[in-house]
Amino acid sequence: MPFQKLKPQIESILQNDKATVDERLSEVCELLKISVPYYDWVGFYFKNGDKEELKLGPYAGEPTDHTIIPFGKGICGQVAVSNKNFVVPDVKAQNNYIACSIDVRAEIVIPLFVNRENIGQIDIDSHTEDPFSHEDEVFLQWVNEKVAEILS
Ligand code: SME
Repeated sequence: MPFQKLKPQIESILQNDKATVDERLSEVCELLKISVPYYDWVGFYFKNGDKEELKLGPYAGEPTDHTIIPFGKGICGQVAVSNKNFVVPDVKAQNNYIACSIDVRAEIVIPLFVNRENIGQIDIDSHTEDPFSHEDEVFLQWVNEKVAEILS
C-alpha cells in the first residue's frame, strides 16, 4: 500500500496556500487517482448550503451527471445522513445506489467532519471488485481530517 508514502505529499498539497482550496482538493484527488491502482474516480461532495443535498466539488476522473445528490439517495446521500463510512464491495448488491458509470464495481464513501459536523465526504469508485480494506478507511479518514483543517 502506498498510503504512508502519500501522506507527506497530501500534507504538502493541502498546506500550499498559494493555491485555492478547490485547487488543492483537486490535486489531492488527482494524486489519489494516479497513485492507487484501484481508485478510478475520486471526488469530494459537500453539503449544498442549507439544502438537504450534496453538491459535487473537486474530483478526478470521468465527468459525472450526478453533480447534485439529495440526502438519503445513493451511497453518498446515505452517508450524508448516517455520518458513517460506507464501503460497498459490490455495487450490484445495493438497491439504493446511483450508477455513474457501467464500469464501476465498488465504492467507498467516508464522511468529512468539521467541528464534528458532517459537511461532506470523499467518494471513490473502483472498477475492481471488492478492492477496499480497513486500511483504505483509516487512510481516507486521515485525508478528510487533513482537509477539514484547511476548511475550518
Ligand atoms: N455512486 C454514488 C453517486 C456518485 S458517483 O459514484 C460519482 C452514489 O450511489 O451515491
